Amino acid sequence: MTAFGHILNVEDARRAARRRLPFGLFEYIDRGTEDEVAIAGNRAGLDAIKLAPSVLIDITQRSPEAEIFGIVQPSPLIIAPTAVAGLVWHDGEIALATAAAQAGIPFCVSTQSITPIERIADESGARLWFQLYVWKSRERTLALIDRAAKAGAEALVLTVDTAVGPVREYNIRNGFGIPLKPSLRAGIDLVLHPRWTLDVMLRAILASGVPTYAHYPDEFRTKLGRTALSTEVDLAPDVTWDDVRLLRRRWKGKLILKGILTVEDARTALDHGVDGIVVSNHGARNLDCAPGPTDVLPAIVAAVGDKIEILADSGVRRGADIARFIALGAKGVMIGRATLYGVAIGGAPGASRVLDLLHQQLSATMGMLGARRLSDIRLA
Ligand code: FNR
Ligand code: LAC
Repeated sequence: MTAFGHILNVEDARRAARRRLPFGLFEYIDRGTEDEVAIAGNRAGLDAIKLAPSVLIDITQRSPEAEIFGIVQPSPLIIAPTAVAGLVWHDGEIALATAAAQAGIPFCVSTQSITPIERIADESGARLWFQLYVWKSRERTLALIDRAAKAGAEALVLTVDTAVGPVREYNIRNGFGIPLKPSLRAGIDLVLHPRWTLDVMLRAILASGVPTYAHYPDEFRTKLGRTALSTEVDLAPDVTWDDVRLLRRRWKGKLILKGILTVEDARTALDHGVDGIVVSNHGARNLDCAPGPTDVLPAIVAAVGDKIEILADSGVRRGADIARFIALGAKGVMIGRATLYGVAIGGAPGASRVLDLLHQQLSATMGMLGARRLSDIRLA
């Protein structure tokens, strides 16, 4: 048996993660927003896509190899930026990046990661992208992206779908938020999940204090995990195309906008010289009346797909979902929760198990479709 041989699909990893993580943290990762209509919509949108099987094709040599921004990688996957990966496992971001390196795919570091990009780079050797939330202080924001460039980030991923804080009532009920705050409820949660409490929380406290956002300027952080001592690093509510222009001038690597859902915005992105976009509804975590990426991807690909690299995410739970996004014209696919569940149950090997499963499932789907390469995958 390989490590985690009992985990046979993403749902198995999800269930195991639910047992292991404190309830508040698990729900923060797993759930959507408001009435969770979009989360169901993403699933239904993917399920509705049928792929055309071609029979009697020798598929012995098939491969899901992909070329994204001119770099060939073994699969079209990128690990999506997720704010709290470092809370689900000790040094969780390094574990995820290590799994990404093993799979030969990029890992996208979040602005709100618990581990700084420099340590992730040194300790994982992964190809890194850096996700940006623009702070009120543009000066500090530019200093942050300079830091990411220095650490070797190949791409800057500006997230454009989070103009305000999302409405997630379960977080309020669970008392979950960053900075982490002590409460009776949180205390009970810790006692009920002793492995997490010892392996993650206690180790973090002993090493460097209560986990908090690593990229926030040192003078605004304390060991107690307070992050917003200054409004300078509040997320800016006035991010506009002017900021895209500013970033385009400063950032020498690839520039990607994450969270585009209309043809009009995709065209404007193109006009601003961006290299790529992620068609995404943020894993259905922000706007509950948002369309699913599958609803809008074909039109966006038709409009700008020959001029910029189009990636997609939100809702991938099986290899077939990756094939579906590819069939709609995506060049690459980001994975958020699936690898988070993996890292939560077993660090880098847990995340690798999930990536391996997705890879195997994609390969099986391609075999059934008679697709030797990704470009052979067609809609039914
Ligand atoms: C996210 N996502 C996210 N996106 C982003 O641009 N910056 C961020 O800091 C975060 N943080 C974050 C935390 C957690 C716990 C999750 C689950 C997601 C969104 C993420 O990058 C991606 O768009 C979705 O997760 C994709 O959907 P799936 O794969 O989770 O269904
Ligand atoms: C989230 C934010 C951090 O999805 O992007 O929770």
